[in-house]
Amino acid sequence: MGKVKILDKVFEKNIPFETIQENVKRIAGEIYGDYSGRDPLFLCVLNGAFMFAADLLKFYPGSCEISFIKLSSYSGTSTTGEVKTLIGLDEQIRGRDIVILEDIVDSGITVSHLVEDLFRYTPGSIRLASLLLKPEALKKDVMPDYIGIEIPNDFIIGYGLDYNGFGRNYKDIYKIVE
Ligand code: IMP
Ligand code: MG
Repeated sequence: MGKVKILDKVFEKNIPFETIQENVKRIAGEIYGDYSGRDPLFLCVLNGAFMFAADLLKFYPGSCEISFIKLSSYSGTSTTGEVKTLIGLDEQIRGRDIVILEDIVDSGITVSHLVEDLFRYTPGSIRLASLLLKPEALKKDVMPDYIGIEIPNDFIIGYGLDYNGFGRNYKDIYKIVE
């Protein structure tokens, strides 16, 4: 199946599952190289990173914990508009080595808010692993420490990523057909 239709848009297969898996495995190895002997706390950013986190943890051979967080957005009164708040952080993260697991870093705005929020809980360290990065779209100084695949500025779905909530279930990544 080369193409899928989601709501009103058509997407074509762009990154096969095998390529995704190779990169997830590589990242897991890189993280283990840096964290073996420590007990990192992986923070999976819902919803998009659920598949990435599930696969990465299967490739991570060391001692670790995982927790799940979500960013809820609401309209602030300031001119900056949208404000993201962290919810679901029930784990004790003080002093812990945190590895954020994100599906994609686009402008970097989401993850820069997240890192700011997390620092208030005084973790020992914070690093960021992102399955995907759109380097051309990056506006914030939040270059991930571990990067799966760099992609051009196209809208994609699958492997956890959605278009208006749909398309997260595909095991391959698809890009929009304009
Ligand atoms: P940022 O704040 O601009 O870096 O955007 C990050 C968030 O936007 C991600 O966590 C995704 O939820 C979403 N996003 C960015 N690009 C895409 C895409 O191509 N497909 C689906 N979601 C995307
Ligand atoms: Mg996301």
